[in-house]
Amino acid sequence: MDILHSEIGSAKDNFYSPVHNWYKFTAGFSYKFVEAILEGDNNSHNIVFEPFAGCGTTLVSSQKCGVKAIGNEGQEFMLDIIKAKLYWNIDKTECINSLNYIDTYLKENLINFSMEEVHPLLSTLYDNETLKVLYLTRNSLNNISNDKIRLFLKLALSQTMHKVGLYPIAVPYISRTKRMANSGHAFNRFQSIVLQMLEDIGPLQDIKQTSEIYLHDSRFENPNITDSMCNYCITSPPYLNNLDYGEVSKVHTHFFGLTENWSDITQKVRKNLVTGATTHYRDVDFDINIFKENDFSKENQLIFNELFSSYIQIMEIAKKRNGKKSFNILMMHYFEDMYYVLKEIRRVLKKGSKAYLILGDSAPYGVYIPTTELLGRIAYSVGFNKYHIYKIRTRGTKWKSLKYRHNIELSENVLVLE
Ligand SMILES: C[S@@+](CC[C@H](N)C(=O)[O-])C[C@H]1O[C@@H](n2cnc3c(N)ncnc32)[C@H](O)[C@@H]1O
Repeated sequence: MDILHSEIGSAKDNFYSPVHNWYKFTAGFSYKFVEAILEGDNNSHNIVFEPFAGCGTTLVSSQKCGVKAIGNEGQEFMLDIIKAKLYWNIDKTECINSLNYIDTYLKENLINFSMEEVHPLLSTLYDNETLKVLYLTRNSLNNISNDKIRLFLKLALSQTMHKVGLYPIAVPYISRTKRMANSGHAFNRFQSIVLQMLEDIGPLQDIKQTSEIYLHDSRFENPNITDSMCNYCITSPPYLNNLDYGEVSKVHTHFFGLTENWSDITQKVRKNLVTGATTHYRDVDFDINIFKENDFSKENQLIFNELFSSYIQIMEIAKKRNGKKSFNILMMHYFEDMYYVLKEIRRVLKKGSKAYLILGDSAPYGVYIPTTELLGRIAYSVGFNKYHIYKIRTRGTKWKSLKYRHNIELSENVLVLE
């Protein structure tokens, strides 16, 4: 594979690419990866499957390349972001009119705005003037009848929220120690983001919309995608690294009224995702003897035995360190969930097609888990015949100086399944 450079697994390239840079997302990967795989594919009948659409990197790039792509995303909030990133034939005049309407709405309603509307979390992250503008802009969007323009502006507002806060919010755990430079001026920021987005789609207006996105949990069959319908799978699944996507998006889900509190995040967000963090489940609900009898364990007995040995090791180390996190249970849930996702990938792919997955290895409490290799082997149990691992880079070294940090070298890889 000659398309790999060490930043393929990060979103750095996307900051400089129009549309890809419309939304700040913690867990993205480089659009260049998708374009390199699809380069030279001019078969308009080919279809790409993306089971973890995230902020839509695969869908946007496929569309730019003129290849059809179908994605699943489990988070409702991300779905709207992705949809907005795929509409490129926005009517510029109508959009500017809507912007002017929002400006007038703000001027008319600012005086009567009640801070009671503000979610307590947001009131700690923005100053009051900014909050008024953000909430009123959100409310004004309900009066915009053109769905595409409303989503376009909603995306711009979501991105504005990253720019005008007191602290960075595109992180799972918001730290109040590092203040953001240039917070505030919410409407000006919003307006300039919208104008930039309009400029970005100028050259893309004539490209047909070829990508589709579904609000769907990829552990289950998506009835909209028939067997063997797709020719590629290009994706970056959640890593086994305790990143809670419910936490990452909570400022936005609280703001847009999708969630109110922790229990909402669990019921409405985490529930639809691959178990990637210890916050996704209750330890008391897990029983290793029952787990041992599930389809995943029975289909992968050798792997189950290896995982079981790591499970015990992690548990013992956690006890010695007074570790509060059940990484051993997380690991079991993660591999079972990914088994179902791999099954779905196998189902939708035509025979002879390849799946490309960007993945990271892990070391919970210092126990090395060769995640990429294990998933390659699990893929055999769902019908793939071959796997290859291409290392992209060594990762995790920046934490080396931490007291309890292991010194195991972890890698980020591309797993190719055939
Ligand atoms: C690593 S991110 C993907 C990054 C993405 N490919 C990009 O560059 O934007 C994982 C995404 O998968 C979503 N996700 C996790 N579990 C899922 C599931 N079971 N079904 C669908 N989406 C899921 C998360 O909400 C998150 O947006």
